[in-house]
Amino acid sequence: MQREHWKTRLGFIYAAVGSAVGLANIWKFPYIVGQNGGAAFILVYLFCLMCIGFPVFIAEVLVGRISRRNPFGAMRTLGGGRFWAFSGMSILLTGFLVSSFYSVVAGWVLAYLVKALMGSFSALQSPQDAALAHTEILSSPMQTIFYHFVFMLMSLAVLYGGVRKGIEKGASYMTPLLFLLLLGLLFKGLSLPGASNGLKFLLSPDWSSLSPTAIMIALGHSFFTLSVGQGTMITYGSYLSSKENIPFSSFWIAMADSFVSLFAAIIIFTTAFSAGIEPGAGPALIFHTLPFVFGQIPGGDLVAVFFFLLVLIAALTSQISALEPMIAFFIDEKKFSRKSAVLVTTTAAFLVGIPSALSSNVLSNYTFYGLTFFEAMNFVCTSVMIPIGGFLSVFLLGWFFDIHTALSHLRSGCPKKDFSCDWLKLYFYCSLKYISPILIVLVFLKALELI
Ligand code: PHE
Repeated sequence: MQREHWKTRLGFIYAAVGSAVGLANIWKFPYIVGQNGGAAFILVYLFCLMCIGFPVFIAEVLVGRISRRNPFGAMRTLGGGRFWAFSGMSILLTGFLVSSFYSVVAGWVLAYLVKALMGSFSALQSPQDAALAHTEILSSPMQTIFYHFVFMLMSLAVLYGGVRKGIEKGASYMTPLLFLLLLGLLFKGLSLPGASNGLKFLLSPDWSSLSPTAIMIALGHSFFTLSVGQGTMITYGSYLSSKENIPFSSFWIAMADSFVSLFAAIIIFTTAFSAGIEPGAGPALIFHTLPFVFGQIPGGDLVAVFFFLLVLIAALTSQISALEPMIAFFIDEKKFSRKSAVLVTTTAAFLVGIPSALSSNVLSNYTFYGLTFFEAMNFVCTSVMIPIGGFLSVFLLGWFFDIHTALSHLRSGCPKKDFSCDWLKLYFYCSLKYISPILIVLVFLKALELI
């Protein structure tokens, strides 16, 4: 069977931006910026993105395009031997596990969208009321599983159509809609009275709260937000034509991802400050603080619907990209039809996600080292397996596959003048071979509290 390809360059860019822009941009970025020194943290994050996230992103797309395989097949083909086959398998598993609990959080967002559509936020008297509403969803096993199921079904519907007619087509509607909603909310946020206080908070660098841990958080985040380390970009790269200019597209994908994070932070801080709320809420920011504020501002019901729709679309385009590597594996290696591969993968991800959906209710007392099943999965995937996955791709290209051959593949599709530039070659050479692998090892050791 002929392997599918992206139809257009823009189709790939939409799909990859859709993958990169997700819960990490809208839910996580604003609160880690708030907790770690505002603009100072943003600058460090942008530096990390350049030095670590971006080269790893390019390495993964390249691994996919050279091998034209799913992560397991790609690693086995390019690396040869058992070690690389095993590495490919662990990368594949990471994306799959991430998709199982990502869907649970996206399910909460879906529940919030339903609440917003029913206009429930105007009844909230305080952020504590909103916290209660959040607890009400999380403490009900019926609700967490139901929304997890519906979200997985939505992902299945997109994936079923295939690479072109499912992922590419879906992303070419959803990604522009996401940007439209984002810009609308940005203008609304900026027009609220007191918005300037939010901007001031966000844009005045507080270098004193920038701890070494904050730097490590910035590094780790640059990874997760670009969807690297879990086979997504290897798989998306495997559908890319050899005429594609990888550095150019990757640059715009990383830029778009960073702008969304920045805009999301502006929306959230201007909105929160307009109601006189200090947004120190941490992870609860979008589930507690914002719903309350939406209840207070003019036109808040509609703003709430747009906001949670935005988050849902962002989560959906990321979720399909997390499931696609496993689907590609079943098609490439096990010769499944696309439809069976999609059915098997989404059903398995739904089932594996059930204990995560139950972690906030019936399984809340079952903990490993103080972490619920959901928290343990999140920790193992984001702090352990993703850094390892990203490391493996750069290590493979930089040290095993021969860096010069890798660079010549990277050059295919690039206009000659781009690559005649010596500093660009030097940048890719140094970052793939030395800078990224070393920085990843540092993040990894820090995340595990070994340094
Ligand atoms: N990049 C996504 C985000 O920022 C995360 C993600 C992508 C997770 C793909 C899983 C798979 O939320």
